[in-house]
Amino acid sequence: MARVHGAEFLKDSPLGIVVCADPEKSDVWVEDSSIASIFIQLASESIGLRSCWIQIRERMHNETVKSEEYVSEVLGIPSGLRVISILSVGYPDETKPPHRKEELQHEKVHLNRYGKYYATIPT
Ligand SMILES: Cc1cc2nc3c(=O)[nH]c(=O)nc-3n(C[C@H](O)[C@H](O)[C@H](O)COP(=O)(O)O)c2cc1C
Repeated sequence: MARVHGAEFLKDSPLGIVVCADPEKSDVWVEDSSIASIFIQLASESIGLRSCWIQIRERMHNETVKSEEYVSEVLGIPSGLRVISILSVGYPDETKPPHRKEELQHEKVHLNRYGKYYATIPT
C-alpha cells in the first residue's frame, strides 16, 4: 500500500489487519467494527504483540480521495463494505511507561449526575 496519512509506519509492519463492515447487515456497524478493532488490539497484546489503530473512516488520502476509497481500490474491497480501520501489528522494539496516576483525568468521571465528580477513583 503506498500511503495513507498517519500510517507511514505500516510499511515496516509485519501485519496490517483491515477491518471492514457491511452497513446493510448492521445499523451499528461503526460500533461493531470499532469493538472488533479493539478486540484485535487486546488479542495482539495478550500474545506479546503490539498494535496501532490507523483511522480510515472519515479521513482523506489526499485532497480529493478519501482514505476508504484508496484502501478499497488497492485491496479490491467490494463497494458495499466500509473500512473503519487498519490495525498495524508487530513485535515491540520499545516499552513505553504507562500513564502516571496523577495524569489520569479523574474530572471526566461523573457519579450519578453529570457534573457531580467522582473525585476519588478506587485503586
Ligand atoms: C479511533 C482511533 C484512531 C487512531 N488513528 C491513528 C492514526 O491514524 N495513526 C496513528 O498513528 N495512530 C492512531 N491512533 C493511535 C493513537 O494516536 C494513540 O497512539 C493511541 O490511542 C494510544 O494513545 P495513548 O497511549 O495516549 O492512550 C488512533 C487511535 C484511535 C483510538
